[in-house]
Amino acid sequence: MKTTMIMNEKGGVGKSVTAIQLAAGYSLNGMKTLIIDGDPQGSITNLLLDEATVQDVDKKELTISTVLEHPDMINECIYPVASLKNTFIIPSTGLLTHTMKQLEFNSLTSYPNKLQKAFRHLKGFDQVVIDNNPSFSWFVYNACAVTDLTIVPTNIEFNSLRGIDNTIEDMTSVLSQLDNAPEMEIKILVTRKGRTNDDMQV
Ligand SMILES: Nc1ncnc2c1ncn2[C@@H]1O[C@H](COP(=O)(O)OP(=O)(O)OP(=O)(O)O)[C@@H](O)[C@H]1O
Ligand SMILES: [Mg+2]
Repeated sequence: MKTTMIMNEKGGVGKSVTAIQLAAGYSLNGMKTLIIDGDPQGSITNLLLDEATVQDVDKKELTISTVLEHPDMINECIYPVASLKNTFIIPSTGLLTHTMKQLEFNSLTSYPNKLQKAFRHLKGFDQVVIDNNPSFSWFVYNACAVTDLTIVPTNIEFNSLRGIDNTIEDMTSVLSQLDNAPEMEIKILVTRKGRTNDDMQV
């Protein structure tokens, strides 16, 4: 099983779109794929699940928040994506912000192993794709401990390029503290290029 995280501390650069496209690419090639929505905005959750399922998710609270609190419940929080064959999702809701604050406070000095523990219960998936909100949250810290590849989508405006530096710097400093994490590769993906004169010059 390979885990790819989509991360950039800048907002609106195409993280969620990249996560969906990557997952769709994997699943169309026959790989059983799990998307983890790590963004409390739930963009991917709302795009990939129908309204009735999203209501069900809200009611039962079987989301990524539950996985962080009870890693052994990960399989109960997986929903099939009807529009994409072979694709499943662990959804997210605004509750994730609250859960992260609580757990972060309780585990400031401990190893960020909530997803590591949860992944031990996952069976049969070929690919995992993790979407994130645009900040280096406690969830991202946990995701770093299970990620083989991080894709940093960016457009090529000045502020976005600075965002890449911050993201890679923060990622590198976290990785230096995670002694039993997989070796992580970091790749930059330029999105939406060629739309402005500045883009063309860069
Ligand atoms: N490759 C692309 N080409 C054209 N438009 C794109 C591309 N990728 C994303 N977009 C558009 O850019 C907007 C932001 O994309 P998206 O929601 O994926 O960004 P994000 O980084 O996940 O944002 P956030 O930081 O708020 O989570 C959306 O309207 C999306 O349709
Ligand atoms: Mg997003």
